[in-house]
Amino acid sequence: MPQESRGSRYLSRTATLKAYVFLDFVILILIICMQRFIEETRKLKQMTANANSVFYTAEEVKQHTTDDDCWTVYKGIVYDITEYAKVHPGGRKIFLGKGKDCTELFDKYHPWVNAQYLIGKYQVGVLRQ
Ligand code: HEM
Repeated sequence: MPQESRGSRYLSRTATLKAYVFLDFVILILIICMQRFIEETRKLKQMTANANSVFYTAEEVKQHTTDDDCWTVYKGIVYDITEYAKVHPGGRKIFLGKGKDCTELFDKYHPWVNAQYLIGKYQVGVLRQ
């Protein structure tokens, strides 16, 4: 067999090998991403399914006071109001209740509003007394 042809076959084998190694790497990354996604979804499902049996202290609620991560407590229930705050008809006034119990303020401004109906899906837990 001519020298040149053996050389080019060797080169093409190396290229194939490299391609397989690269593919393995991509598949590995994909598997890791999928595992993370499944784990996060499972955690989220557990959190929302058991929102009544997840307890938070006032100290923990106090850690969530930014526009991107805002919790409040209404009548003993802990809500993540980050998303709702963006559409709150009373604008940024809702942030007066950030990281704390907003029951008094809420009832002062709109005692007729049904909180559970509007933000029930954002319940993250219950306040540990
Ligand atoms: C510290 C907490 C809160 C404060 C200080 C506050 C304050 C206000 C204010 C000042 C208004 C405007 C009233 C007006 O324009 O006449 C308003 C409207 C409203 N807020 Fe809040 N809010 C708070 C939390 C919430 C939460 C957690 C919800 C959701 C459950 C909510 C739902 C509403 C609704 C539905 C309206 C419209 C009420 C209506 O026009 O009948 N608010 N709020």
